[in-house]
Amino acid sequence: MKVLIVGGGGREHAIAWAVAKSPRVDKIYAAPGNAGIAEVAECEDISVMDAEKLVAFAKEKEVDFVIVAPDDPLAAGVADAFLDAGIKTFGPRANAAIIEASKAFSKDLMKKYDIPSAAYEVFEDYDKAAAYLDTIKAPYVLKADGLALGKGVLICQTKDEALEGLKNIMVDKQFGDAGDKVVIEEFMTGREVSVLCYSDGKTVKPMTSAQDHKRAGDGDTGLNTGGMGTFSPSPFYTPEVQKFCEENIYQRTIDAMRQEGREFKGVLFCGLMLTPDGPKVLEFNARFGDPEAQVVIPRMKNDIIDVMEACADGTLDQIELEFEDNAAVCVMLASDGYPVSYKKGFEISGLDSFKDKEGYYVFHSGTKFADGKVVTNGGRVLGVTALGKDLKEARANAYEATELISFDNKYMRHDIGKAIDEA
Ligand code: AMP
Ligand code: GLY
Repeated sequence: MKVLIVGGGGREHAIAWAVAKSPRVDKIYAAPGNAGIAEVAECEDISVMDAEKLVAFAKEKEVDFVIVAPDDPLAAGVADAFLDAGIKTFGPRANAAIIEASKAFSKDLMKKYDIPSAAYEVFEDYDKAAAYLDTIKAPYVLKADGLALGKGVLICQTKDEALEGLKNIMVDKQFGDAGDKVVIEEFMTGREVSVLCYSDGKTVKPMTSAQDHKRAGDGDTGLNTGGMGTFSPSPFYTPEVQKFCEENIYQRTIDAMRQEGREFKGVLFCGLMLTPDGPKVLEFNARFGDPEAQVVIPRMKNDIIDVMEACADGTLDQIELEFEDNAAVCVMLASDGYPVSYKKGFEISGLDSFKDKEGYYVFHSGTKFADGKVVTNGGRVLGVTALGKDLKEARANAYEATELISFDNKYMRHDIGKAIDEA
């Protein structure tokens, strides 16, 4: 079987690594891929948003199965383009990816189908949104409706800060069209857990849990990023919490989407807050998280192609999803200055020390080849993942392994998985 992976970050590298393990796969292409993905796939420099070129490429190479991994192309209908061309594809159509692409849509869906989430209002008008702030208490949670690289959520401690935030989003259009609407949401407290679920539109199969660290600095300080590190499983995702979520969140959401005529096939990423009143949904994504994928996928026992194909075919009920009884920690190595401004193009050394080192992985996020060398090419550069018999061992292994890699301006958080000690 020939497989095309659309995307070029750490998530796609983790997916490509798993696809390469499948005995069913003879050839992997990636568009655009990166220097790490190139170890297992032939990379073609096509933009993830160029549906026409991607479909033409898949046809030319007689690709049997396509995996569309990132949020932007899913929201823009790139999975639809492959499906409409008759190519089997993993990833939701745009009319289902909207569960991530519009926060107002997902909030309205949750309200209509009684899926636990924070109370909220949606505004298209700055003055009305500003007036609403007078009726609620701090902290204020403001969310730009559309996709904003995970940066469109503001938690404001004072009303002045919230007014400033509203102005940035709605008037100055800091996030572009994503700020045409704003969701103002009740502030929730508790532990955060991410649970990624496979779905074929009817059946839903939750994967093992994970936790991301979104802020740039140690102790959860600094700006929000795409994610600075993850661990899996979450010790706070107890069997009781899992049961609640299975009964009230995962299946209910997939059923709601089907009832709305928006059959969801792919990965439904449920960002959860374990509040004192029970688990509630923070957000949905229509894809694997990054770096969540970098800890969840290495722990999966199944052949990823079997599972993804079952999602596309509507036969997920026949798959028994299995994960190793171990733990994984991923520490993101970034370029100093991320997520604001940073330099690129520095040579990366030490990558070879990961070759054939069992239980250790280095997934490339922002890298490329230059003059035969691998150089930094993004804010998030590499994810270093290590397995362990438990979370503590995995964390120690991961931090030890970060020492093997060096490049100028290397930056990382030193407290990934600190919550493990509080469990
Ligand atoms: P989201 O992209 O919606 O997951 O939001 C990004 C981050 O903002 C989450 O991971 C939470 O840490 C925080 N957040 C979002 N919504 C809320 C809320 N209603 N209450 C408290 N924190 C929130
Ligand atoms: N790590 C969070 C995300 O992928 O959205």
